[in-house]
Amino acid sequence: MIDPRTVPSFKLNDGSTIPCVGMGTFGSDRVTPDEVAGAVAGGIRAGYRLFDCAACYGNEAQIGQVFKAAFDEGVVERKDLFIMSKVWNDMHRRVAESCKKTIADLQCDYLDMLFIHWPFPNYHAPFCDVDSRNPDSKPFSVAEFVDTYRQIEDLVDQGLVKHIGISNLTIPKLEAVLPKLRIKPAACESELHPCFQQQALFDYLVAHDILPIGYMPLGSPRRPERDILPEDLADMQMPELVAIAKAHNCHPAIICLKWALQRGQLPIPFSVHNYEANLEAAVTEKLTDEEMATIATLERNNRLVKGQVFLWPGANDWHDLWDEDGVIVDCTDC
Ligand SMILES: NC(=O)c1ccc[n+]([C@@H]2O[C@H](COP(=O)([O-])OP(=O)(O)OC[C@H]3O[C@@H](n4cnc5c(N)ncnc54)[C@H](OP(=O)(O)O)[C@@H]3O)[C@@H](O)[C@H]2O)c1
Repeated sequence: MIDPRTVPSFKLNDGSTIPCVGMGTFGSDRVTPDEVAGAVAGGIRAGYRLFDCAACYGNEAQIGQVFKAAFDEGVVERKDLFIMSKVWNDMHRRVAESCKKTIADLQCDYLDMLFIHWPFPNYHAPFCDVDSRNPDSKPFSVAEFVDTYRQIEDLVDQGLVKHIGISNLTIPKLEAVLPKLRIKPAACESELHPCFQQQALFDYLVAHDILPIGYMPLGSPRRPERDILPEDLADMQMPELVAIAKAHNCHPAIICLKWALQRGQLPIPFSVHNYEANLEAAVTEKLTDEEMATIATLERNNRLVKGQVFLWPGANDWHDLWDEDGVIVDCTDC
């Protein structure tokens, strides 16, 4: 057990704080809802206070039972937890309904942060494969995104949501939407790991006082089949990372997490077997400047979640989702 009071925190742009490491809860189509809930139960007792949930992970009801039991048994109080969830792509027009269902499922009264999971209303079914396409999918629209965001702003006004998060945004999309938002987003969840550091996006978020939260912080070795390409790299097997782990007598996962924290991003590793070690990474010895510099050289632009399943009719390929030329691809109203 790690005393949660010893776990450092990041400051959000409204002055409140958030624990510096969270537990991911996406079972990647491989770990059952009950197993994920079991990890959350263990995680609370190990000292985790931040949980990254999502409606589309299909396990909020099971996790809610764990939260309720922890509250009832006096293990933690609601105010001690920072619970995050996300509106799935098929609920952009019905955000309040989605949020209320999540709060009911998680049995948590309110959410500390609610994210727009993806900036498109493009839905895919759980367990779908990489060739799955939804014919109703559309390219990004500023108005659609801002309308979805405004619905969360209303939920903040009602006290159901404390902070607003965005996810899977690009700099061109941020440039288009940020001036139109009444309440500034507190955090942006993005794929961030040693072989995919997204330095420009990271710098943009920091400059705009939006906390970068890094998903897949370990390179997600058991991600869904649809997100695996033969040329993908395995972050935790990069020789430089393995050597640093050897020097610290720990698993390369711990080095990925220390690098994330020292860089200034909040990692949300998922684990059913190693979650205590992952939290411990936040309270044990730091990496040296030289080790940090070595990990900076591991950048390989190796995006793992390409997002093919979100493509709209007429899109070329997954690169269109990420605005790599600095303009929003096929934007309908930019
Ligand atoms: N916003 C978004 O669009 C988005 C997208 C993807 C993910 N996410 C969030 O990010 C979270 C993390 O991403 P992820 O789950 O895909 O990948 P990840 O955290 O990078 O990797 C998880 C994998 O690493 C293993 N692992 C964890 N700690 C370890 C350790 N200390 N030593 C060895 N192996 C270890 C786990 O196995 P064991 O269980 O055996 O430990 C698990 O298979 C998700 O759960 C979800 O909450 C958000």
